[in-house]
Amino acid sequence: MAEALSIDTITRPILGKSVKIEALKKMILKVAPAKTNVLIIGESGTGKELVARALHELSPVKDGPFIAVNCGAIPESLIESELFGHKKGSFTGAIADKPGLFEVADGGTLFLDEVGELPVSMQVKLLRALQDRAIRRVGGNETVKTDVRIVAATNKNLEEGVKKGTFREDLYYRLNVIMLETPPLRERVGDVEELVQVFFDRFNEKQKRNLKGVSLDALEVLLSHAWPGNIRELENVMERVVTLESGSEISVSTLPSEIVHAARKAAGAPKELILRADFSVGPVDLEAVLSEVRKFYQREARIYAKGDVSLAATLFKE
Ligand SMILES: Nc1ncnc2c1ncn2[C@@H]1O[C@H](COP(=O)(O)OP(=O)(O)OP(=O)(O)O)[C@@H](O)[C@H]1O
Ligand SMILES: [Mg+2]
Repeated sequence: MAEALSIDTITRPILGKSVKIEALKKMILKVAPAKTNVLIIGESGTGKELVARALHELSPVKDGPFIAVNCGAIPESLIESELFGHKKGSFTGAIADKPGLFEVADGGTLFLDEVGELPVSMQVKLLRALQDRAIRRVGGNETVKTDVRIVAATNKNLEEGVKKGTFREDLYYRLNVIMLETPPLRERVGDVEELVQVFFDRFNEKQKRNLKGVSLDALEVLLSHAWPGNIRELENVMERVVTLESGSEISVSTLPSEIVHAARKAAGAPKELILRADFSVGPVDLEAVLSEVRKFYQREARIYAKGDVSLAATLFKE
């Protein structure tokens, strides 16, 4: 009997319970079993690689390799040989036959990270490989069949790239059979609190610090920060403060001063909650949406009242 696969059984869980992250998890469960190409878009640090790994682990090719390649980090002259391999002697330095990542990922998933950075000349070759389901090594004559699931990711607006002519439209449609969006942390109401707790526990244990927790003041600052670097930024901040805290719990004075300043500035300014009605993932849980709106107002009121609970309670009517 096939083992039950669920979003909770993956190696590195996708944390968060906000409406947006729940919708994303539903989509992952829906698209993972098919071997369709997936394009993941999202800001830096929002979990694109985490989602790519989840897609792999929940897919029929889960026992095959998961190969990640950062298209923006390889010099242009080497990309073709990295992806498709080369024959001995095909260029200076090609001292032996070498398989490319398409062949290495055969029977598994090839994760093309920062796909928007691929030079146009390479985009043509990638499109051909995807269409033919076969590659040709640099300097080689024969084609090699490959069976790989392609997951691509970008933090760039590829549609804009298509309009400007820096990204090929045909490749865009080929990669973008299914699009998943990893939401920025500032649109994930309620998740910061959970992530703070999970990362605190994780680093507190890992570093054997035995701290009691995060003080309320410090939590308010963390909650009102906009997290432009998203989860990666939050994770790094938590690691840093758990390391540096000299008291018994995380205090405001241990938080990075940029964050304290940014949070103080943000606290006075009105904030907006961005809601998008998305019916593509199944029936919308209206109660969950409403509870998120409620949480948003409660949190903003607490921040506006600088933690004065009775003042906060007068700021809206239930
Ligand atoms: N929902 C989540 N739950 C738990 N951890 C997360 C989540 N999203 C991201 N992370 C963690 O945040 C860090 C950044 O995630 P990841 O590398 O997947 O982001 P990314 O979108 O690929 O960023 P970049 O565009 O900068 O490469 C990782 O350590 C990842 O484990
Ligand atoms: Mg990444």
